[in-house]
Amino acid sequence: MKKTILTGLRPTGNLHLGHLFGAGINYVKMQEDYDFFLEIADVQALTDNFENPEKVRYNVYEITKDLLAIGIDPKKVHIFIQSKIPEIAELTIFYSNLVTVSRLFRNPTVKNEVSQKKELFGNDGESITYGFLGYPVSQAADITVFNGEYVPVGDDQLPLLEQCREIVRKFNNIYGEVLTEPQQVLSTTSRLKGLDGNEKMGKSLGNAIFLVDDEETISKKVMAAVTDPQKIKKDDKANPNICMVYYYHKLVTKEDQLKTVCQECKNGTRGCVQCKKELINNLNQFLKPIKDRRKQYEENPNLVKEILNEGTNYAKNIAKENMQKIKEAMKIDY
Ligand code: TRP
Repeated sequence: MKKTILTGLRPTGNLHLGHLFGAGINYVKMQEDYDFFLEIADVQALTDNFENPEKVRYNVYEITKDLLAIGIDPKKVHIFIQSKIPEIAELTIFYSNLVTVSRLFRNPTVKNEVSQKKELFGNDGESITYGFLGYPVSQAADITVFNGEYVPVGDDQLPLLEQCREIVRKFNNIYGEVLTEPQQVLSTTSRLKGLDGNEKMGKSLGNAIFLVDDEETISKKVMAAVTDPQKIKKDDKANPNICMVYYYHKLVTKEDQLKTVCQECKNGTRGCVQCKKELINNLNQFLKPIKDRRKQYEENPNLVKEILNEGTNYAKNIAKENMQKIKEAMKIDY
């Protein structure tokens, strides 16, 4: 029997290279060995986008196409829409008794997000909503309603996973051993830096290359990427290890060319413009098969809907079965 793995994505924008190198490539590998549930977390996305329902709806389909484009195989992975599984919402309510409000306020991931969303939640988080504060509880329901054993997430999500494990332990203590305590799957890849040298590539940071970016957009972004500030003239020697252009070359450029890039940069025999042009070329080549695959789905939106329906139906059946056991344990199986 394959182990169950579950992860989720908030549909608030397209996938970028950070998602691909930090997570997507791993998902594509893991789909071979696990029973893989991939949640499009529209309900969670609404917790901080409740005023933008169109944005969330639009991105459910965008992100699904992105996932299919990078090689997620819908025959192997159950891609489903969170809001179509009401058992998740139901379980969130049951779990809400097992978590204290102060524990949620102390959750580092929640704290961090609240401080980043001042326009939504106020300077000190005084306008935080009940829904946003409680999303870790809902995320615990996401995972456990499918008996998720492994959760591939980045370090920023660890406090959420720990919160989930606490809920599971508390539930099992009170109502009996019904739930599985999920574990993190450590990513074998590391977080991708932004074009500006920021530690993280992110949509809101404005330093990301999206998988759907056209060649002109990619060219503009790469041309503005941060290089060694000491290199002013074309023949100045530079340090590739502090240059974002070289950093991205390492991801998409073949070994021979990469060596040349590194040497010439150090020797002062290559200009940054040429170096950026070569990177743009290689990035475009790298993204071509992804874009080609995406195009098939763009031209066939019904196929995307069918894939989501199938994944959702499968997920729904599992959630129903597990919910029955949960309700029995809680003595509410009337
Ligand atoms: N919170 C996750 C994020 O922002 C998305 C998510 C929703 C998730 N449900 C999940 C991740 C369940 C892992 C498991 O990226």
